[in-house]
Amino acid sequence: MPDAKIDILLDEQIGTINPNLYGHFMEHLGACVDQGCWVGPNSKIPNTNGIRDDVAAALNKISAPVIRWPGGCFADDYHWRDGIGPESERPDRINIHWGNVIDDNHFGTHEFIEFCNRVGAKPYFSGNVGSGSPQEMRDWVEYCNFSGNSTLARERTANGSKEPFGVKYWGVGNENWGCGGNFTPEDYATEYRRFSTYLRDWGSEPNYLIACGPNGNDLDWTRRVLDKILNGFKPFVPPIHGLSAHYYCGTAGTDLVYSTDQWYELLWKAIQMEQLVVEQRELMDEYDPERKIGLVVDEWGTWHPPTPGRNSAFLWQQNTVRDALVAALTLNIFNNHADKLVMANIAQTINVLQSLLLTEADKMVKTPTYHIYDLYQPHKGAEAVQSVVECASISINIGGEYYSLPSLSCSASDTGDTLTLTIVNCSHDSPQMIEIRGLTSNFTSVLGEALHYPYGDIHSHNTFDSADNVHLKTLPETDFSSGSNVYQVSAASVTRLTFTR
Ligand code: AHR
Repeated sequence: MPDAKIDILLDEQIGTINPNLYGHFMEHLGACVDQGCWVGPNSKIPNTNGIRDDVAAALNKISAPVIRWPGGCFADDYHWRDGIGPESERPDRINIHWGNVIDDNHFGTHEFIEFCNRVGAKPYFSGNVGSGSPQEMRDWVEYCNFSGNSTLARERTANGSKEPFGVKYWGVGNENWGCGGNFTPEDYATEYRRFSTYLRDWGSEPNYLIACGPNGNDLDWTRRVLDKILNGFKPFVPPIHGLSAHYYCGTAGTDLVYSTDQWYELLWKAIQMEQLVVEQRELMDEYDPERKIGLVVDEWGTWHPPTPGRNSAFLWQQNTVRDALVAALTLNIFNNHADKLVMANIAQTINVLQSLLLTEADKMVKTPTYHIYDLYQPHKGAEAVQSVVECASISINIGGEYYSLPSLSCSASDTGDTLTLTIVNCSHDSPQMIEIRGLTSNFTSVLGEALHYPYGDIHSHNTFDSADNVHLKTLPETDFSSGSNVYQVSAASVTRLTFTR
């Protein structure tokens, strides 16, 4: 008897999975930029023009589609002119949000664009609304995107790039309900109107302007911001193409020390993302039934308590199999709601929060979360199809209240040639035998690949001394032609099954 069933509804297409759902976020925070991707051209650490070769290659390998920069909270205290021109003339500024350290601005607009080009990712800039001006942001757009003969375009050429950067994605502020200026929804909408009026389309593609959305699933913020932007200034309606929400999974133990209960608690918190996506989109649909405004989740991930011995302002944390399951559950949710989302950016890429990469001097490790991004690559750009999971639920006690966590999660996508299933088994100790239904006889064999780590150790992680403790492993090919459609997944696992037609 199987423990669970997954029905693949091949005819029920959800939508194309936008590759940008697998996006990233890099802030001037701790060692994300400085020492993370940037070491400067004079460093002994292998680099090209100051950009770490190992980091650029690792992100290139997973085809990172888009990277958001320079914040986060940092963005609303960042003045882009500080980060252009000769290094020696760039000012030292205090990073007021993240430890009051001095930022020498050696990594600025040109360096970030070069980093994106090396990775093969599109840039997504967060503009400064909190302490900046519409003119400052408008000038940044012109500097980056104008191909004609203006003073700012000539300045960009003098700084090394005759070719415009073609930056499409522009965030109009970050968390403007908090660190981005502590605005009320109505006041932010009024600022949004002012800023967006001056952000013109000088690129090869029109700008995609992203307004600040809610903290978590705060429906009140979304309703009031959208109401004001779309109805409050009529007949003028400011251009708006996206609305960004942020959701972090809160504390359940620490990065490395957690009980079995805390394992489940964090996984349960992770799947609350689904409610956010469904309810935020439902509310947006009231204002925008044709879905011309895209829902963006441009910050998400695990946020553990400060790691002892580290500067707590730098948000450094280790990354275990538990973080990998959070990533896999979340990406399954994104795939299953591909019709509702246009972009998502895990926080953050290197050395900060749920990072994909950790660096220390000349060493770099790929975290378990990195391997999930690698494993899930075939979903990008494929057509998401419905999968229905029947499985046991795990009862969880959080602060005296009981909640239910489905023991399995799945998402499926189809390219026409191949069908990809990604399956997460949340049970910390029980493998599950799954009956997979709905596949036509066109599918014969299945290739499996899974996150692999020392047996039974749900705290497994990679360190600079043991960088391959957690990695991806190819599983033996299974024959499905005999009518057998049962597959066993390990406990606490993430498995990708690839069916070829
Ligand atoms: O990612 C860390 C911080 O979390 C970001 O700067 C901010 O936008 C959010 O609160």
